[in-house]
Amino acid sequence: MTSREKFYEERKRRLWKMYWEGNDGSDILRPNGFKEYPTDIYDLFLSLIDRNGRALDLGCGNGLMLKHLITRSRYKLIPYGVDFLEESIRQAREKILPEYAENFKVANIADVELEEKFYDFIFFDPYSVHPDDLESVIEKLLRACRPGGKVIFYTYRDVLLMLRIIHLLRLKWIGWVGDLLPRYIAVKLERINHPKVSIGVYKRGSCEV
Ligand SMILES: C[S@@+](CC[C@H](N)C(=O)[O-])C[C@H]1O[C@@H](n2cnc3c(N)ncnc32)[C@H](O)[C@@H]1O
Repeated sequence: MTSREKFYEERKRRLWKMYWEGNDGSDILRPNGFKEYPTDIYDLFLSLIDRNGRALDLGCGNGLMLKHLITRSRYKLIPYGVDFLEESIRQAREKILPEYAENFKVANIADVELEEKFYDFIFFDPYSVHPDDLESVIEKLLRACRPGGKVIFYTYRDVLLMLRIIHLLRLKWIGWVGDLLPRYIAVKLERINHPKVSIGVYKRGSCEV
């Protein structure tokens, strides 16, 4: 097993324990990492939706955030989700968004193939991939985003705090999600601050070919 494969296997195992150990499926918040419904966070994501289109959540859990978007947005959205935990995708297909079951895929974000210029909104947490995969994943997302669409980079504050401590030892300051990204993309992001989540929005030009 390569170190990259080990990284994902270990992540998957740890997250499965957090979300699914002893969960018979009745706790629908846990597979997304929450104890209480995160209205403020989901509403912040909702506020970034500014047109009809396809919304892709990479690391979608059981699809709860997508459900929030499609039921509360004034725009017509079609949800798509990718997650490497089979139980979470099964719950998305069977319980949370059964009418869009075929749009949910069990896959690693680092390996999943995405159609070019297809999605209007792509949600992605850079912490979910191995650092060596980050650049190629970002390139894939920028290609998959439709002109005029958005790639929404985000990371939760508790993860940022943990990374800040690790990176301090390497004398690198981690203040927001852009600090986890290559500079060429970080400088293009609109920065949104929230006490629980750090967001950077990339807008793909509507005239880009
Ligand atoms: C904190 S949960 C977020 C769930 C959902 N996006 C939400 O906001 O409610 C992060 C999800 O990302 C998934 N994940 C993390 N790394 C991944 C990877 N490399 N490939 C696929 N899924 C991944 C986890 O299994 C987990 O379900």
